[in-house]
Amino acid sequence: MKKQILVTGGTGYIGSHTVVELQEAGYDVVIIDDLSNSTADVVDKIEKITGIRPTFEEFNLQDYNRLEAFFNKYPNIEAIIHFAASKAVGESVEKPLLYYRNNLVSLMNLLELMPKHDVPNFVFSSSCTVYGQPDVLPVTEDTPRKEAESPYGNTKAVAEDIIRDSVKAMERINAIALRYFNPVGAHPSSLIGELPRGVPNNLVPFITQTAAGLREKLSIFGDDYNTPDGTAIRDYINVVDLAKAHVVAIERLLENKNDARYEFFNIGTGKGASVLELVKTFIEVTGVDLNYQIVGRRAGDIEQTYADTTKANKILGWKAEKSLGETLLSAWNWEKKVRNIQ
Ligand code: WQD
Repeated sequence: MKKQILVTGGTGYIGSHTVVELQEAGYDVVIIDDLSNSTADVVDKIEKITGIRPTFEEFNLQDYNRLEAFFNKYPNIEAIIHFAASKAVGESVEKPLLYYRNNLVSLMNLLELMPKHDVPNFVFSSSCTVYGQPDVLPVTEDTPRKEAESPYGNTKAVAEDIIRDSVKAMERINAIALRYFNPVGAHPSSLIGELPRGVPNNLVPFITQTAAGLREKLSIFGDDYNTPDGTAIRDYINVVDLAKAHVVAIERLLENKNDARYEFFNIGTGKGASVLELVKTFIEVTGVDLNYQIVGRRAGDIEQTYADTTKANKILGWKAEKSLGETLLSAWNWEKKVRNIQ
């Protein structure tokens, strides 16, 4: 009998890639998604990749009664991977209450219902944003969290604390928070990938949409940072590598290998890359002559961050495998598929 895993936000960017890896690792996956930032045809795409159609229930996790009914319908769930959340940094500044309500009420509903329905394991989608601008690089998990740059970032920090206090209060819950650095790229099949609505906030989708002719040019936000080429540095992690980290985290909990009831792991490559390095690598691997300009810094951006991945490598037994070039090529292949470009 396959172990059943609930993936909330499972039709989203990282969620869909994680569903694929879970199915390929032999798990039976149930998705909850409200389709506020994704489309139902992602379920078809997942089936096309793995040959297995995940169960899909469409509703928002803020609906407690609907969620309780869900757990009554699916009594054998052994773990939850919780992705479902609003995640646009800029929008969170304009609509903070929408972000606190959606991201935190959803989380609290899940945590309240887990012990009632004997669901013992929880993996949370957190973010390096909780570190803000680290004072020391690479950044380790015991680095004190900083004041979040946005309400979105703060929902991740507050969520981590809600999980901590819930795990303490409810002895039958074990949790792992994965602090992602910058997820990028797409599945090698080009059937699933990142599809932001409207103008992309994030760098890589803006690059691929510029290369596809949807955007006139890429604006690089600032080249006056204290970095080798003046542009900001991030740790860009391939989304398939990131998805695999979730499978390893689930197995750690299901097999009771966790050293503590609540653990944190940085999920990154451990290497920093500047915006200009990323642009040049994209041009090199795709042969596309990307149109870009340097403009002023974006408010709220930090100068540089990249992960110390020692814990994930040594304790979780996970390591990023895909190169930046391969990753950017996968993003471009996905964009071409979506826009029907040969
Ligand atoms: C990366 C770099 C920009 C766009 C955010 C969230 C994080 C996570 C990922 C959700 C920065 C530069 C970008 C552009 C640019 N979000 N850039 N021109 O800001 O590191 O992280 O997204 O899960 O929690 O904080 O990612 O991709 O927006 O920016 O020059 O058009 O690219 O200034 O240096 P960021 P990003």
